[in-house]
Amino acid sequence: PLTTTGELITRAAAARTAVPAFNVITLEHVEAVVAGAESAGAPVVVQVSENAVGFRGGRLLPLARAATAAAEQARVPVALHLDHVQSDDLLHQAADAGFSSVMYDASRLPYTENLAATRSAVNWAHAQGLWIEAELGQVGGKAGASPLDAHAPGARTDPDEARAFVAGSGVDALAVAIGSVHAMTTPTATLDHTLLKRLNAALDVPLVLHGSSGVPDGELRAAVAGGIAKVNIGTALNVAMTGAVRDFLTAHPDVVDPRKYLRVGRDAMVERVSRLIGVLCARPSP
Ligand code: G3H
Ligand code: ZN
Repeated sequence: PLTTTGELITRAAAARTAVPAFNVITLEHVEAVVAGAESAGAPVVVQVSENAVGFRGGRLLPLARAATAAAEQARVPVALHLDHVQSDDLLHQAADAGFSSVMYDASRLPYTENLAATRSAVNWAHAQGLWIEAELGQVGGKAGASPLDAHAPGARTDPDEARAFVAGSGVDALAVAIGSVHAMTTPTATLDHTLLKRLNAALDVPLVLHGSSGVPDGELRAAVAGGIAKVNIGTALNVAMTGAVRDFLTAHPDVVDPRKYLRVGRDAMVERVSRLIGVLCARPSP
């Protein structure tokens, strides 16, 4: 059934696990995330980024409606989240399109502007009953970021600044920069667990890890044990899907029916989703 991100975060906190949140681009991604979560027997967040909306000519509803229907029919709780929103116009479509939460991303702005923009996004979101996440200390590698910024592992969130930012903005959760980088195609990142501990001690809101495709399983488990409450994964699904489709088309160069290769791509994502949920949602040993 369709649930809310806030509800999943509360449940995960009680169980000392994290909420896995997967970015979707196509209908096959949506189906794979739901099927992977069903096979793992765990709830999941389906998230649509502003970039994914851009790929659909700026239209949010086609993918949002498909995701809502998939969530309503799912055998596990599924929440819908609008991710990395920079445009106020898109932000203002979130509630009507069925999303229970948004990530408002003004992290490219200097601190004071980020705080002011986030504060007004929070006011709007809370008036709609939406859960809202923001980012401080830019996690690099985002599409559209400058090449210099791409894959820059150096960005870090300062705990004192983060405390002031959370208090000043009223956000429900904070995306923190602790060493992960967006769009890595192999899991080779090392996280700054000392910083995570300091952030967790300084803040009383759930912390969100972005760029998690680049984080090895052991590092992910340690991050969850260290207080990460929501884990955003996008690229890992695309690596799985594209690799499987490429292999299939290479082996079957005469195939023209998209169902033949989309099925293979979707199956590869289902497997990846359920494996990653197993990594994130295993209860820590007492
Ligand atoms: O918000 C989305 C995530 O941060 C995804 O990052 O594509 O590097 O896994 P990723
Ligand atoms: Zn992200």
